[in-house]
Amino acid sequence: MNLILRVWRQKSPGSEGRTVRYEAKNVNAEMSFLEMLDVLNEDLQSRGEEPIAFDHDCREGICGMCGFMINGVAHGPQRGTTVCQLHMRHFKDGDELYLEPWRARAFPVVRDLVVDRSAFDRIIAAGGFISVPAGSAPDGNAISVPKPAAETAMDAAACIGCGACVAACPNASASLFTGAKITHLGVLPQGQPERRERILNMVAAVNREVFGSCTNIGECEAVCPKLIKLEVIARMNRDFIRASWSRRV
Ligand code: SF4
Ligand code: FES
Repeated sequence: MNLILRVWRQKSPGSEGRTVRYEAKNVNAEMSFLEMLDVLNEDLQSRGEEPIAFDHDCREGICGMCGFMINGVAHGPQRGTTVCQLHMRHFKDGDELYLEPWRARAFPVVRDLVVDRSAFDRIIAAGGFISVPAGSAPDGNAISVPKPAAETAMDAAACIGCGACVAACPNASASLFTGAKITHLGVLPQGQPERRERILNMVAAVNREVFGSCTNIGECEAVCPKLIKLEVIARMNRDFIRASWSRRV
């Protein structure tokens, strides 16, 4: 199939960007979206032009490095799918696709489709961990985890930190991401000792960045490639209120 791509090109964080038209010819339906861009980039390089910059690593939907907007939708049209796992069979000959980086003040554009997501790293550094004593590995069954808690934690731990939720949110809120991280640790027995400090520190870290507030629109859930549910935001808000009150008394 042949496609028309209109790609956001921007040389550096401070420079002006613009949309450039490209033709992707003889695209194989079995290629992934990133492989299609690889082929286009080889073609650009062979003509002495700058390749299109985009983030990627595992290309298996597990690392969270990839991500950009395809026709205004974060990670493209396939629900529950990262752009590295999106295949060209979901498009048709003659399609015209607009590719843009995540648009959020907290994620400044580095180059073309690449944005700086270090704001997420700072939120994790504020409390997205558990402190465990180093030493020999504990027995696997030493801390029993109730099945519902294990299931909830595993679902929340599926978040790969891609940032699609922020990009899709009209407020550029980081609530789905932060809620997932807080839920992942907050429902496990191992996460209880630091539960109160974790939520207060992580929410404070979110507030230091330039994310907006959540107004329950739900675009984040709709585009999340790991199908993280809005419930994690409710859990984060509930935990935050409890932790704030317990600090006052
Ligand atoms: S909640 Fe979903 S969309 Fe947001 S960072 Fe995690 S995986 Fe990506
Ligand atoms: S490249 Fe790792 S999730 Fe897409």
